[in-house]
Amino acid sequence: MVVCNFAQNGRMRYAPTVMKKLRLFFLFFFLKNLSVFSQNPIPHLEKKGAAIQLIVQGKPFLILGGELGNSTATTTQNMQPVWAKLKAMNLNTVLVPVYWELIESEEGKFDFSMYQDLIVEARKNDLKIVFLWFGTWKNSMSSHVPAWVKLNQEKYPRAKDNMGRSQEILSSFSENVLQADLQAFENLMRFIKSFDANEQTVIMVQVENEIGMLPSARDYQILANEAFTKEVPAELIEYLQKNKEKIVPELWQIWKQNGYKKLGTWEEVFGKSLANDEIFMAYFYAKFTHKITEAGKKIYNLPMFVNAALNRIDKEPGQYPSAGPLPHLMDVWKSAGTAIDFLAPDFYNPDFKHWCDLYIRQGDPLFIPEHVFDNTVAAKALFAIANYDALGFAPFSIESTEKPADEPLGKMYQLIKELTPLITQNQGQNKIKGVLLSKSNPETIVRLGKYELTCKHDFTLSWTAGARTENWQLGSTIIIQTGEDEFYVAGTGVVITFKHQENKDLNVGLLKVDEGKFENNSWKILRHLNGDQTHQGRHVNIPVGQFGTQRVSLYSFK
Ligand code: DGJ
Repeated sequence: MVVCNFAQNGRMRYAPTVMKKLRLFFLFFFLKNLSVFSQNPIPHLEKKGAAIQLIVQGKPFLILGGELGNSTATTTQNMQPVWAKLKAMNLNTVLVPVYWELIESEEGKFDFSMYQDLIVEARKNDLKIVFLWFGTWKNSMSSHVPAWVKLNQEKYPRAKDNMGRSQEILSSFSENVLQADLQAFENLMRFIKSFDANEQTVIMVQVENEIGMLPSARDYQILANEAFTKEVPAELIEYLQKNKEKIVPELWQIWKQNGYKKLGTWEEVFGKSLANDEIFMAYFYAKFTHKITEAGKKIYNLPMFVNAALNRIDKEPGQYPSAGPLPHLMDVWKSAGTAIDFLAPDFYNPDFKHWCDLYIRQGDPLFIPEHVFDNTVAAKALFAIANYDALGFAPFSIESTEKPADEPLGKMYQLIKELTPLITQNQGQNKIKGVLLSKSNPETIVRLGKYELTCKHDFTLSWTAGARTENWQLGSTIIIQTGEDEFYVAGTGVVITFKHQENKDLNVGLLKVDEGKFENNSWKILRHLNGDQTHQGRHVNIPVGQFGTQRVSLYSFK
């Protein structure tokens, strides 16, 4: 048609050039819209030295996140005031539930319009999204399943407790439940792929939410009871045998107590106990969830994980949500499949370091999808990234703050954002240390290159106003070694002194300390620090209440 017009109005001689341009335009448009030719690989996990990084649009990405409260992202309108808050706190990622009941209110009919709006809004606000699939289970319960599932109990059976009472928990032993959830999840992943594969706003997916059996350690539904009397699946035993060097001691001990049996029913292999009931249940929860994850990944292969409500040591399984992706069950979860990339802890429990240590002990990546939004989150976000190479951090109910611009978390996120290229470039090579400081743990010693660094809480300086106070705001720091004698120190509430590790006769002095920030990846000095700010050359200090970065050069003298 275009060529014809050219001929008619006598401008034929321009046609070849215009046609060429048009052809090029269409070719470009076609290639741009084919995800296979998309410039960037799909978000994925990649090993770098000892660390595992999340790669987004070709670059390592640290999730400076926040998870929305449970009923917030249920209408586009309700989300409107939230976006500005997220921006004010310098988030780069928001964790958003996708509720099964809302996307498939009628069986087989899917509506993703609200999630489409959400993705568009996230893009406008320069935010990435981690979707949380609130499918069969959300905090143990099945409250987010559509009405047509809830009402058809014949087809979608409930789990039962040890007294045979039905729970509002769908049974993981039901093939119908599995298929219904799996198809909904596949549709979700199909939607994300078709709407977002080019722009890559959605970077990870959490499958289900805080899976765990209540109030008994295992399901006593008829299908569950049948499975309980069968032999332990060979894949679990083979996993234990193959990975004996790294199986967590909590599980190894149980297997050992029962004589490392390779064949037998659950009670024969792991003993007649609540611990066995929990292992049994964990295997079948894991099996179910791996299947869903695998099906979703076949459609769109984003990194996928599961999260756990942490157990309390003094409680029995069933008193806490039994059989979730907990540290003592990590091998059971891993034995049932490989689709789930990692297990993640939710923190409503104060002992942060203890639980993080348990999650990373087999070399898995750490991600904190939920932490109660309290006054410790700023320090812990930095510590998680610095000490554990965490993929990211997200306080829960992030929109609940009334004063987002004043949140310490926002200040910390800004700091980490500026440091991200430096951090990700140096991850996995023993050049980064992280320290978390409190009144009960006021000092940590770390070693980097030839130096020993004593990191103390700012309030250990007796002349600070806070030294005599009861409650010490957490301090935390990241130290990145960028040269033999050069470090970047960032964080809040810390004071650091330096020593030679080997040659104790040598004194270490501060050659130069500059306070500054990274702008477009280049270091900009804002202040030269000396005098009181370095205690006349004795230490490096970032006071409580301040969030800063300093570049430190050291030298030695006899
Ligand atoms: C953990 C869950 O994962 C969240 O969805 C939420 O229910 C919090 N607990 C508590 O508010």
